[in-house]
Amino acid sequence: MISRTAIGLMSGTSMDGIDAAVLTRCGNGELGQGPALARPYDGETKARLQAILGGGGGRAEINETAEHVTRLHADTINELLKKNNLNIENIAIIGFHGHTINHQPEQRKTCQIGDGGLLARLTGIDVVDDFRSADVAAGGQGAPLAPLYHGALAAGLPKPLAVVNIGGVANVTWIGADDEMLAFDTGPGNALIDDWARRCGLGDMDMGGGLARAGRIDETGLADLLANDYFHRTPPKSLDRNDFALPPSLAGAPGWSAADGAATLTAFTARSVAKAQTYFPDIPKQWLVCGGGRHNPALMAALRSALEAEVVPVESVGWRGDYLEAEAFAYLALRHLDGLPLSLPTTTGVPHPMPGGRLNRNVV
Ligand SMILES: Nc1ncnc2c1ncn2[C@@H]1O[C@H](COP(=O)(O)OP(=O)(O)O)[C@@H](O)[C@H]1O
Ligand SMILES: [Mg+2]
Repeated sequence: MISRTAIGLMSGTSMDGIDAAVLTRCGNGELGQGPALARPYDGETKARLQAILGGGGGRAEINETAEHVTRLHADTINELLKKNNLNIENIAIIGFHGHTINHQPEQRKTCQIGDGGLLARLTGIDVVDDFRSADVAAGGQGAPLAPLYHGALAAGLPKPLAVVNIGGVANVTWIGADDEMLAFDTGPGNALIDDWARRCGLGDMDMGGGLARAGRIDETGLADLLANDYFHRTPPKSLDRNDFALPPSLAGAPGWSAADGAATLTAFTARSVAKAQTYFPDIPKQWLVCGGGRHNPALMAALRSALEAEVVPVESVGWRGDYLEAEAFAYLALRHLDGLPLSLPTTTGVPHPMPGGRLNRNVV
C-alpha cells in the first residue's frame, strides 16, 4: 500500500459548521492525524439549511444552498492548507460528506447537498462525495458510516468497547472482543437540546450545560419521550435530524420552564444512549464519547448516571473528539480509492460489505 494523505469534511446535523481534518494512512496501514480546523456557520447559512431540511424549499433554493455550502467547504479547505503550509500536491483526496437535508432509508432516500465537482475545481484536489447513496440503494441505512474508522482506531484497546458520538443525532459503535461490530443511531444527540435553547431565546445551545443543571427532570415527560417506537426497533436503524423534534409551535410544547426542559431533554439523550445496550451482545467495559455533546458537562453527568460502565471523552485514549467524524470521511475517501467497503451488514444493515462514494476528478 502506498502512503496517502486525505482531508475529511463534515457538516453535521447540529448545523454548527464545517469540520475539516487531515489524515494520513501510511504504507503499513497505520493512521496519522494531521491538522484540523472548524469553521462555524453564520446565522444566514444556518437559516438557509434549516429552510431546506426534510425536502422543504424548491429545487432552485436547494441548488443555491448546495453551491453556497460547497463554497464554504472550499474556503475551509483552503484555510486549512494555508494555515499549515500544506501543498495540494500532497493531498490525494478530499472526503466531502456534504450536509444531510433528507434521510429516509426506509424509502431508499438519503440526500446530502454539496457539489463534489465544484469542490474539486475550487480546491484543485480530487473529491469523493455521495457516501451514503449506494448503501441506501442496496437496502442499507446509509448510516452510521464512522464505525469502520472507530474500529481501525480501537485496534489496541480493551474490548468490548462502545464509542458514542453525540452530534445532532447520537450514534454508537459497539466493538466486541473479536472486533465484531454493531452500529446504529441511538436517538437524539444535541439537536433537541439546541432547539430547546433556541426556543427559549437562550442561544444556539445549552452552553456548559448550566441550564440543564439548574432544572429538574420531568419524569412523566421523559417516560413519554422514551416510549417512542424507535427504541424498540432492532438495529440496523438510523435517524434524520428531525425524527425526534420539539412540537413546532409553543402552543404544543410541554409546559416546562427553560431549565426543566433542558434537564429533561438532556436526560432523554443520555437515557436513549443507555437503551442502546439492549442490543449489544456484551456490556462494554468502557464508553468513549466523541462529538460536541461531550463538551456539555450536564450531558456527560447524565450519561455517567445512565450507563453502568466507565464513561470518558475519547481524548482519554488519544483521539480527537471534535474531529473524529471529519477524520472518518478522510478515511472513507482513502478506502474508496483502494476499492474497499465503506459499510458492513452490522453497521448499516446493507446485505454485504459495500463500497461507496463517487469520485470527482479535479479537471483543470
Ligand atoms: N460547550 C458546550 N456546551 C454545551 N454543548 C456544546 C458545547 N460545545 C458543543 N456543544 C454541543 O455540540 C453540538 C455540536 O456537536 P457536533 O459534534 O459538531 O455535532 P454535528 O456532528 O451534528 O455537527 C452543538 O450544537 C452543541 O449542542
Ligand atoms: Mg458539527
